[in-house]
Amino acid sequence: MTKKKVLVTGGAGFIGGNFVQYMVEKYPNYDIYNLDLLTYAGDLTKHGVIEEEENYYFIKADIGDRESMMELFQKENFDFVIHFAAESHVDRSITDPEIFVRTNVQGTQVLLDAAKEFGITKFVHVSTDEVYGELDFDPNTFFTEETPLQPNSPYSASKASSDFLVRAYHETYELPVNITRCSNNYGPYHFPEKLIPLTISRVLNDQTVPVYGDGKNIRDWLHVYDHCAAIDLVMHEGLSGEVYNVGGHNEKTNLEVVKTIIETLGKSEELIEFVTDRLGHDKRYAIDPTKLEKLGWEPTYTFETGIAQTIQWYLDNKEWWERIISGEYQNYFEVYYKEILN
Ligand code: NAD
Ligand code: DAU
Repeated sequence: MTKKKVLVTGGAGFIGGNFVQYMVEKYPNYDIYNLDLLTYAGDLTKHGVIEEEENYYFIKADIGDRESMMELFQKENFDFVIHFAAESHVDRSITDPEIFVRTNVQGTQVLLDAAKEFGITKFVHVSTDEVYGELDFDPNTFFTEETPLQPNSPYSASKASSDFLVRAYHETYELPVNITRCSNNYGPYHFPEKLIPLTISRVLNDQTVPVYGDGKNIRDWLHVYDHCAAIDLVMHEGLSGEVYNVGGHNEKTNLEVVKTIIETLGKSEELIEFVTDRLGHDKRYAIDPTKLEKLGWEPTYTFETGIAQTIQWYLDNKEWWERIISGEYQNYFEVYYKEILN
């Protein structure tokens, strides 16, 4: 196997962190560079098991810093860029959209410029199903790669904008790219501002769980390990210029997700608290992954096996999430949920 240099942006975050670990372990012959600004969502303790490995490097940097990115790409000559770094939380984008444009749109453009200037084998842009907007509750409708982009939140609009830039750099400059659009991830190291880890951590602390609106909105859940395997496949086998949807047909209402967690932890459903709905709350997401399946991918977790593994992980790694919810997160939670939570 030829030695390759892989730049992973956002490798201190939830999915990027799991991907870095997956790559370091699966490809001892590749050098894996984790570039991350370490915002509130970045955390390096998750790399305790790999930080001594010879094929792992960490670079603290801002993807929006053009000079540093140009210098880095010139020096390292990367083969692959796997781009996860982003502001990723929809609720934060509703309160403060500007940083989403700066990081997700401008940051992506800087990376594309650096990749174009110094040459790469493949730029994989990790995007999201949210760029397609929302589906209604007809269970026979799905997002395909041909579904028009109709983002509804500042977060998804910033991701859709970056998708268009990636496409444009392929069409205009022939930059070799892929875009992946995955459904909702869950699993180890998921930041506790998102529904599943928020529910697990609050239920374990006997706190109420805020459910937006009537709890009937549907998300299509995929275990993060299955997402990592999908990106591995796309980076190596994806046809340049193509978009690949990633999802495992695990549609659940938010209420079903919350009730499953409460039941597994042996607590009372009285912990559920219905609160004011999210502005512009997308009704339903559901992915048609046929194109990726034809490339050779299939998920290994069902929602039932994945959520059991995830709950067990949060039980076994209390010190990780307890440290996070006692930091900056505490302030975010109090301010954001002040109006809507009793
Ligand atoms: P996350 O918020 O957990 O992690 C984002 C990481 O990016 C953090 O480590 C943060 O420090 C880093 N970062 C932020 N701004 C940066 C900057 N300017 N320069 C360098 N690093 C910066 O996000 P996540 O949930 O792991 O999502 C990763 C990617 O996957 C995002 O692009 C997101 O849009 C996409 N995605 C997420 C999901 C999901 O369910 N979480 C689903 C599909 C796609
Ligand atoms: O679909 C992929 C997207 O999934 C990613 O692109 C995003 O980065 C990721 O954050 C996620 O977005 P969602 O908005 O779907 O995830 P979140 O966990 O924030 O919310 C999931 C559902 O739960 C959503 O319908 C809103 C609801 N919710 C969320 C929170 C935080 C609640 O009812 N209460 C809450 O407190």
